[in-house]
Amino acid sequence: MSALQWGGRFGAAPDAQLLAFGSSIEEDLVLAPFDVACSLGHLEALRGGKIVSEAEATELTSALAAVGVEIRDGIFADYARAQPFEDVHGAIDARVREIAGPAGESLHAGRSRNDQVATTLLLYAIDRAHAGARRAHAIAASLIARAQEELEQESVVAGCTHRQPAQPVLLAFLLVAWSEPFVRAVSRFAAVARAARASCPLGSAALAGSSLALDRKAAARALGFSRPSRNALDAVGSRDVALDLAHAFVRVLIDASRISEELIAWSAPAYGYVGLGDAASTGSSLMPQKRNPDPLELVRAHAARSVGAYAGALGTLCGLAPSYQRDLQETKGATIAIAEDGLATLDAFERAWAAVSFHRERMARAAVAGYTVATDVADALIAKGVTARAAHALVGAAVAQAESEGRAIDARDLAALAAKAGIETLQAPLDARTSIGAKQTDGSTSPDDVRSQIDAVTAELASLARQLE
Ligand code: ARG
Repeated sequence: MSALQWGGRFGAAPDAQLLAFGSSIEEDLVLAPFDVACSLGHLEALRGGKIVSEAEATELTSALAAVGVEIRDGIFADYARAQPFEDVHGAIDARVREIAGPAGESLHAGRSRNDQVATTLLLYAIDRAHAGARRAHAIAASLIARAQEELEQESVVAGCTHRQPAQPVLLAFLLVAWSEPFVRAVSRFAAVARAARASCPLGSAALAGSSLALDRKAAARALGFSRPSRNALDAVGSRDVALDLAHAFVRVLIDASRISEELIAWSAPAYGYVGLGDAASTGSSLMPQKRNPDPLELVRAHAARSVGAYAGALGTLCGLAPSYQRDLQETKGATIAIAEDGLATLDAFERAWAAVSFHRERMARAAVAGYTVATDVADALIAKGVTARAAHALVGAAVAQAESEGRAIDARDLAALAAKAGIETLQAPLDARTSIGAKQTDGSTSPDDVRSQIDAVTAELASLARQLE
């Protein structure tokens, strides 16, 4: 039996090298279980239209189930690699024909690989979007659990912008900030799964629809889609959902890479804010003292790589005529690579994060270094009627004075500022906890607000978890 699903109109076999060049089997083997599901869906369309007999349908169903078992047991990959198949769809079709005998010759009626690629990619997107959502959810939940612990410990840290100390914040506040993008990622993945389920391309029959009476509604229903796709040409040419899936992974990897970068910096002795734990560290083959944050560095690098692959997939679509073109095979490979690597990278990130311990004393000492209460002092002047500009200038001068004397801002500075501003007394936070407790706005680092932020994120995660069930 030929590995190719075509050939009748050709006088000679294709160039073997060109066939190998065009094969996507290594990239799309991962789609195998979804192609079996897709084929079972197509079988419903064939049965509904009485294009196959019930006896043939039964044989095809058990042949597809047998291929499903071979895929599950890892045997099918060897079969698919042993012959020059163009893709996983051709390999599964060939295996079904081997197992089912004559009935196998009818499975491909009214169907093109264009329909199969589009449909299996949607089924794959639903599955991987759920997997991505579960991972992002687990990461957010673990960040929030640590936020809760650190809130109880009242741990403080220097909140930075431009990597420079800005104002003291609760460590819990910072951990909630880290969790938020992962909460959004869960919603983004859920939206991808919803979009994927919206419409089923099966029955597009390459581009123009079929003259066979395929029961497209039965196929869509069997596979859990809301309805058959509206327009065959669009259905085979669109990779919108695949790109949305890739986008969701790229975005969440970027989020993981940003936290990784912070943890990498914080684990250096110069910061000493965190320990990375032996489980998530590596050593040097030469320098005996070294403890390196390789897993987190690799999370950063994998995020960058996914951005490149995503840009490649977007570029592939530029200028493609709106129908099936072979170039689309490359967007599929990129999407699969991004999603598979994305899941592995999120898993690595979650493991590395679980091994992180905080050095609270060290963070607390750094929280007020660099005059981080200066804004509170300026705010205190403003509250006493001094203009914002004047308060800024006065406190700036006080900081310069204290800095030249190599000391922090203290009560003497407050007295001097009061005198300069022409007010009787000035009280302002001079330590991290007082500064943090003085915050009044919603969304701030004040302990009460951080408690409600944790409650709100927890509630949102619970509702997202119910949607994911
Ligand atoms: N392997 C191709 C892909 O992944 C499917 C083949 C599509 N059809 C064709 N006429 N070449 O996109």
